[in-house]
Amino acid sequence: MATLAQESYAPKKWNLSGLQGISDQTLTVHFGLYEGYVKNTNLLNEQIQAKIKAGPSGADPGFAELTRRLGFEYNGMVLHEYYFDNMTASGNGAPSSGKLHDALAGSFGDFDTWKKDFAAVGGMRGVGWAIAYLDPKTSRISNHWITLHEDGNIAGYKPILVMDVWEHAFLLDYKPAERSKYIEAFFANVDWKVAESRL
Ligand SMILES: [Fe+2]
Repeated sequence: MATLAQESYAPKKWNLSGLQGISDQTLTVHFGLYEGYVKNTNLLNEQIQAKIKAGPSGADPGFAELTRRLGFEYNGMVLHEYYFDNMTASGNGAPSSGKLHDALAGSFGDFDTWKKDFAAVGGMRGVGWAIAYLDPKTSRISNHWITLHEDGNIAGYKPILVMDVWEHAFLLDYKPAERSKYIEAFFANVDWKVAESRL
């Protein structure tokens, strides 16, 4: 039997100290939560490998539960990487021209309409993510709500801008009812160049 490739992920590091409206304390806690997703993704893969060696069965509740957790842990890891990657402490300002601006404006009529829609998606009740996705077939961008980490991601679409709206992303800096203030802070810290590079 061939040796199976063992997936193992290493947590990424970011230097985001000094964001506008998002404290270093929030970032420290948030990086710790992210590292938990990396650890749990690796652990889950080990446990599933053991089940595969022992003989996997969909009727085994242990196998089924481990497999169902893949979407939660993997997306929890990957979405945080997109989120931290698309922020910078040296904000480069919302684009008024260029490829990303034109893609957003072309999909929504104008940039501000896209931004209002993205903020409104982020303001939806519940914990999850707001993601601006590119449809590679049509080059159109649409904003989506992801519940937890896994429900609502669109297969084959490319994440362009990712915003965490779980309460842990802002509760040390804002009250639970002040999510809109956090969303404005997020916009002030977006690395638009990174978002554009994902197109
Ligand atoms: Fe988070």
